[in-house]
Amino acid sequence: MEDKAGYLMDNEEENIRLDIKTDPEAVRTQAQWCGIRPGMRVLDAGCGAGITTAILTDMVQPGGTVVGVDYSKDRIKYAVENYGRDGKTQFHIRDLRRDLGDLGQFDIIWIRFVLEYNRVESPDIVKKLAELLKPGGYLCLLDLDYNCLNHYELPPQMDRLLHRLMERLDREYNFDTYAGRKLYSYVYDADLEDIRMDLFAHHLFYGSIEDKDVFNWTKKAEMAASRLGDLFDDYPGGSKAFSEEFNRFLYDPRRFTYTTMMLCKGRKPFSRLK
Ligand SMILES: C[S@@+](CC[C@H](N)C(=O)[O-])C[C@H]1O[C@@H](n2cnc3c(N)ncnc32)[C@H](O)[C@@H]1O
Repeated sequence: MEDKAGYLMDNEEENIRLDIKTDPEAVRTQAQWCGIRPGMRVLDAGCGAGITTAILTDMVQPGGTVVGVDYSKDRIKYAVENYGRDGKTQFHIRDLRRDLGDLGQFDIIWIRFVLEYNRVESPDIVKKLAELLKPGGYLCLLDLDYNCLNHYELPPQMDRLLHRLMERLDREYNFDTYAGRKLYSYVYDADLEDIRMDLFAHHLFYGSIEDKDVFNWTKKAEMAASRLGDLFDDYPGGSKAFSEEFNRFLYDPRRFTYTTMMLCKGRKPFSRLK
């Protein structure tokens, strides 16, 4: 694989994209499924702009705390300024591929939409995170499956291009279009027990669509065009025409688009005391 290290979606509007696209109700439902409750110490691994961390902090009150870590200085600066002033949420710059031992131990470790950006290192990241669990603590992985590819009815040329695009993001940018289906094996290989899986509709668009959802998808398309511009050489009208046509597709009330989010949790055995 070509080495193009760094976060695929990085750009100056990423904090805003994450803030706008995050659905607090969905995060709460997912966090409840994970077992997050008052009094816990939770790690939000790859916390992004901090909005999810703030929601988790709310859910562990009274008495709980949440630590958010992300390798982007920009994300953490934004998170501290917008969500880090309550004394119950801490943010640190950390790369999940490096040692995280100084963060201490956690009742729950939550990692949402992060493994998909670390295809090669995902199994190691999961094992490393499992080491930070208190005995009886749960590791919770949340990620998308068959990412960006479930649309009907796309013009065939656009459908072909989207498939080629995702293939290249996987191959050249360490992305993982199929992260969701791999979560169970990661948790299994980390020797966790009481493993549970579930799935949610992360996107489910039919009929009208909200502007915030179009904004999110438009940002994804812009990112793809800026990174893999050559893919659009054969597309009539190039990347500009693709973006406009995809935008029209999204606003078309006949269109059907969905993305499946997989959730997987596993418990650290009580017997594995250090
Ligand atoms: C799509 S955002 C998800 C943010 C948040 N977890 C959520 O659920 O909305 C992915 C985040 O993971 C971070 N990230 C990706 N790989 C990372 C790594 N190896 N170490 C630390 N952070 C990472 C990125 O910087 C980015 O902020």
